[in-house]
Amino acid sequence: MMFGTLKKKMQLNLWIFYIITTLCVPFSGQEEMSTLLPSETTETILPMALPEQINDNIALAVNKFGYKLLLKMMNEKKNDNIVISPTGVAGLLAMTLLGSVGTTYDEIAEALGFSQDIFTNRKNHEQLGELLQSINANVSSKTLYADAIFVDTQTPLRQLYRNYLHDVYRGEILNTNFTDSEDAKNKINEWVTNNTEGQIENFLKRSLPTSTKVALLSALYFNGQWEKPFLPEYTTKLPFKKGKVTVMADLMLNFGHFNFTVSENNDFIMLALPYNDSETNMYAVKPRLPNKLNLLDLMEKIDYEQIDKTINEMTIKKCVVRFPKLELKTSMNLDNSLKAIGIQDMFTPGAANFALMVNGNAIVNNTEEELITRSGTKIEDKESSLIKDMLDSLPNPGIHVDSVTHEVKLTINEYGTEAVAATSAVLARSAELFYADTPFYIFIRNEKTHLVTFSAVIFDPTIE
Ligand SMILES: *[C@@H]1O[C@H](CO)[C@@H](O)[C@H](O)[C@H]1NC(C)=O
Ligand SMILES: *[C@@H]1O[C@H](CO)[C@@H](O)[C@H](O)[C@H]1NC(C)=O
Ligand SMILES: *[C@@H]1O[C@H](CO)[C@@H](O)[C@H](O)[C@H]1NC(C)=O
Ligand SMILES: *[C@@H]1O[C@H](CO)[C@@H](O)[C@H](O)[C@H]1NC(C)=O
Ligand SMILES: *[C@@H]1O[C@H](CO)[C@@H](O)[C@H](O)[C@H]1NC(C)=O
Ligand SMILES: *[C@@H]1O[C@H](CO)[C@@H](O)[C@H](O)[C@H]1NC(C)=O
Repeated sequence: MMFGTLKKKMQLNLWIFYIITTLCVPFSGQEEMSTLLPSETTETILPMALPEQINDNIALAVNKFGYKLLLKMMNEKKNDNIVISPTGVAGLLAMTLLGSVGTTYDEIAEALGFSQDIFTNRKNHEQLGELLQSINANVSSKTLYADAIFVDTQTPLRQLYRNYLHDVYRGEILNTNFTDSEDAKNKINEWVTNNTEGQIENFLKRSLPTSTKVALLSALYFNGQWEKPFLPEYTTKLPFKKGKVTVMADLMLNFGHFNFTVSENNDFIMLALPYNDSETNMYAVKPRLPNKLNLLDLMEKIDYEQIDKTINEMTIKKCVVRFPKLELKTSMNLDNSLKAIGIQDMFTPGAANFALMVNGNAIVNNTEEELITRSGTKIEDKESSLIKDMLDSLPNPGIHVDSVTHEVKLTINEYGTEAVAATSAVLARSAELFYADTPFYIFIRNEKTHLVTFSAVIFDPTIE
């Protein structure tokens, strides 16, 4: 092997890097409400505007990953509310994957549903990069996605990794002096605030260790308004049954024509609440008979593919919807859940290998560097397994992931101040009922890319 001899020089000092992600979904802005009346009488049902090409394989892989991650977290934190961003976490892991080799690479690729094959994997990156860029759209709701990598001033990040990251994920690279931990923390927090429209401040409560060499960050921000707002004067305290205990929660009311369905096996019901940008929906899923099959058991029983299939079977129905007003803020460490889905080596000093991200002690010439970063134009000529062998024998720079931190803020409210007179006309006997008065699962999907940007399970809407 070309790099066989260099392997011996494996670094003994351990460098640490952090992957951090931060997200936000506020639906506040009461001031804009008066113009947003539900218009039952004039309602027309328009099909979603979809671009000609959606890479559904990548979106499906990301969504399946997100669903599995959510399940692991539910098992870890029994009956706690959880909010995550599958897209945000997958985006970060993809950037990490780009810099890794060996089993570190294999594990991340496997969990994300990316190919093990180097060339296919490169296409997977390009497609995910495109999807992430296209959710940064110009519509009335606002979805912003941004990546950054903070690198210690002394750390020799591979130039080609920087370039590739920038080309594919539009990732910003910022030099940071992690030895000055207070300054590094402030810089990271400022970046997060900048990229979540000021919604997330003081993201890092404590400084990162001074041994940190790299911190990867992604921020995702979504601000949407319901296409059909809830009716605030009907929001009222009603019982919400979380298992054997009942709490009184503010349940909002909505009615009208919504996409609704009962799953094929009759286990769950699903409702779609559209945002007014005609490209984002929130889907709400709850067990049909929560006393017989609780939320966790339901979610263990099905998978994202089944949910995806059920989405395609939805039809517009007259519905009466009760949905809790929510304000959730979760700050989580994803390490254990990621380990539980098979991403282990990147956390393990010695086993973690980020030879493509950081130029340890390896002396490689340009041709080799192009080859190992898969960015050259001529690499298609080579056997992909040959390149993989070569990559796996690169000297390990001895850097490992210390922690993956994730913060999400989610606010759901009525978004409408004025009532609609003709309530009774819609509360017809034939209406479907979707009462989210027992634990439920929600996810927000961008219909242009099919990426699930946020997902949550709510066990108690009264807990922030
Ligand atoms: C966003 O709007 C700007 C200016 O109106 C336009 O140049 C750009 O192409 C738009 N981008 C997308 C993704 O639609
Ligand atoms: C980094 O910060 C430390 C602590 O403030 C300081 O001693 C050192 O000179 C700084 N290094 C650089 C390259 O600025
Ligand atoms: C945050 O935004 C301000 C104003 O645009 C800019 O000056 C600053 O450099 C940004 N900070 C970071 C860390 O991106
Ligand atoms: C969506 O709601 C916002 C806020 O009221 C409004 O500015 C925007 O025009 C609406 N968009 C559409 C397509 O109705
Ligand atoms: C309802 O769901 C179907 C199936 O997914 C979809 O084709 C249609 O566009 C949806 N309609 C609305 C208004 O969301
Ligand atoms: C780069 O290094 C490899 C082996 O270390 C050598 O075979 C190759 O000729 C070198 N290429 C250039 C352009 O120097």
